[in-house]
This record gives sequence, structure tokens and C-alpha cells, in this order.
Amino acid sequence: MNGKHWTTKDIPDLKGKTVIVTGGNSGLGFEAVKAFVSKGAIVIMTCRSTIKGEIARENIKNSIPKAEIILMELDLANLSSIQNFSDKFKQSHTKLDILVNNAGIMMVPYALTVDGFEKQIGTNHLGHFALTGLLLDILKKTPGSRVVNVSSLAHKSGVMDFDNFMYNNGNGYKPMKAYGRSKLCNLLFTYELQHFFETNQIDCKAIAAHPGVSDTNLFSHSIPKWVMVLLRPFTLFFIQPASMGALPELRAATDPMAKGGEFYGPNSHSEMKGFPTVVQSNQASHRIDDGKKLWQLSEKLTSVQFK
Ligand SMILES: NC(=O)c1ccc[n+]([C@@H]2O[C@H](COP(=O)([O-])OP(=O)(O)OC[C@H]3O[C@@H](n4cnc5c(N)ncnc54)[C@H](OP(=O)(O)O)[C@@H]3O)[C@@H](O)[C@H]2O)c1
Repeated sequence: MNGKHWTTKDIPDLKGKTVIVTGGNSGLGFEAVKAFVSKGAIVIMTCRSTIKGEIARENIKNSIPKAEIILMELDLANLSSIQNFSDKFKQSHTKLDILVNNAGIMMVPYALTVDGFEKQIGTNHLGHFALTGLLLDILKKTPGSRVVNVSSLAHKSGVMDFDNFMYNNGNGYKPMKAYGRSKLCNLLFTYELQHFFETNQIDCKAIAAHPGVSDTNLFSHSIPKWVMVLLRPFTLFFIQPASMGALPELRAATDPMAKGGEFYGPNSHSEMKGFPTVVQSNQASHRIDDGKKLWQLSEKLTSVQFK
């Protein structure tokens, strides 16, 4: 680390590295793409809307003309879109150094993905689980690769219930409960993935990160814009800019000292804001039985096997 705190200045040279960022057109993903390309990486910015993606790419290229950004369509709420993306990516690339599973939705009303999964768990966890599994062969081929899963402080409100994992027919569904469960899944998956890499002697690390509370479009799913404007003077105390919120995932992705199975988050205001450091997730996220059950269930639901 150059200074007292880890910042984008600490990101090493990334020339020759290939990085995928899901949901790269907005918020933390957008900031992460900007930081990766500014250090010379080739970044695949995945977006569910190519129009939004084009605008975001132009925006970055205006400030970093040499930025190498490849825009690719990926809808994490649709398994065939994930399959198409991974096929196309593997046809055009021979390596993948960093996969940042960043995209997400928060507190949406009860709805289903194309494949019939509850939408928050389907997008935030199952979509990224399938994506990682489909890219596993290329991650394995790339020495020192990394998978970064973006979780949340909200994992602490998540409760696993394998008998009603996806709130069948909306049974017991509360937008915050389902979001919390999806973010707990991100952590259970990270720790189990790290275990999988170690057991199979795969030279890849699984690391989790959370951004504290950051100023992005995430809240637009649950809070009307005019309420956000009214709340703004109060929220400034605990909300940080997206550029700060992206630092934990950037550190997890690039710090040479980062270890598999670690969790990065902000270092102050009860982890709501600050500079990235190693933080602790709750006990539920370390339940090995739940991690294994989730893994098996996710393989079954997505039909993606890790091998
Ligand atoms: N902001 C915070 O305070 C906060 C706190 C804790 C955790 N997080 C986590 O941080 C991550 C990034 O969120 P953000 O805050 O940067 O929010 P954001 O500005 O809303 O960005 C979310 C990104 O995910 C994409 N996305 C949503 N559904 C998708 C789908 N089905 N397929 C592909 N992409 C999809 C969005 O695409 P569109 O632009 O098309 O909607 C957008 O690019 C999420 O995992 C979130 O849970 C954020």
C-alpha cells in the first residue's frame, strides 16, 4: 500500500489481464470498469441493456480514450443468456484473469426470472453461480485467476430456508428478506467456491466484497427518486460515492496480498463507508452445511455442474 489507505493508486499494472465485470454500465460496476481499464486491463463490460452499455462505454472512453472495453450482453435473470454469453466469451478469449460478479437488484416486488426463479435470488445468486460454473474451465486455464462476489451488509438479515428457498408462489416473500438471503448466498457461495478451488488444487481465488452504503441506482428499485432527493441531506452522513463503494471489490480483485476466502468492506462508520479492509461476515455465512446444500441446490436448479 502506498499510503495509509488502499485506493485505486494501489492497483497494480493490469496490462495483459482480461477482466469481466457484470453490471458494468452502472454504479459500482461502472466505477470498477473505469479503474480496471485505467490500469491497462481489457474489460468485458456485461450489460443487460446494450443501449445503456454503449452510453457507459462512451462515457469512460471520453475520459480514458485508450480504454479497452468490450461490451457484451448478459441477462443474469435468464439461463440461456448466460449460456450464450459464456459461449461467445470463450470463442473469442483464451484467458480470464478476474471475474467480478457485481450486478444485482435490491428489494424488488415478488417476481420470477425467465427460468422461474425468485428474481432477487435468481439474479444475484443463481445467475452468478451459473456464470461462474460455465466460465470455470477458462478460469482454471488462467494462472492466478480470481472470482470476486459482491455481497452486502444486508447478508446479516438473510436467513436460509431450504424448504422455501425461493418463496414459492410468493409465500412469505418480503423484498428485504429475499435481498438479504441472496446476499447471504453470495457469501456462502464464495466460501464454498474457495474450498472447491483448494480441494481441487485450482490456482484461482474466491473473494467477497461489499461496498457499505453507496450512491448508485440500486435504491431506485425500492425508493422513489423524489424521496431520495428529499432524504439526500441526511443520507450524506452515511452514503459514500460509488467510486468509494467500488474500492472493496477492486481490492479483492487486484491486491496481490488478498487471500482466497477473504471478505473486503469499508473500514469506518460500522462498515457503511470508508476505505477497503478485510472485514468479517456473520456466522450464518460460514455454515459449511448450508454452503454445501446451497451449492448442490444451485447446481440442480441451474443445471450447471462445477467440474
Ligand atoms: N449501492 C449500495 O449501497 C450497495 C450496498 C450493498 C451491496 N451492493 C451490491 O453492489 C452490486 C452493484 O450494485 P450497484 O449499487 O452498483 O447498483 P446499480 O447502480 O443499480 O447497478 C446494478 C447493475 O446490475 C445490473 N443488473 C441488474 N439486473 C441484472 C440482470 N438481470 N442481468 C444483468 N445485469 C443486471 C444493472 O443493470 P441495469 O442498469 O440495466 O439495471 C446494473 O448495471 C449489487 O450486487 C448490489 O447488491 C450495493
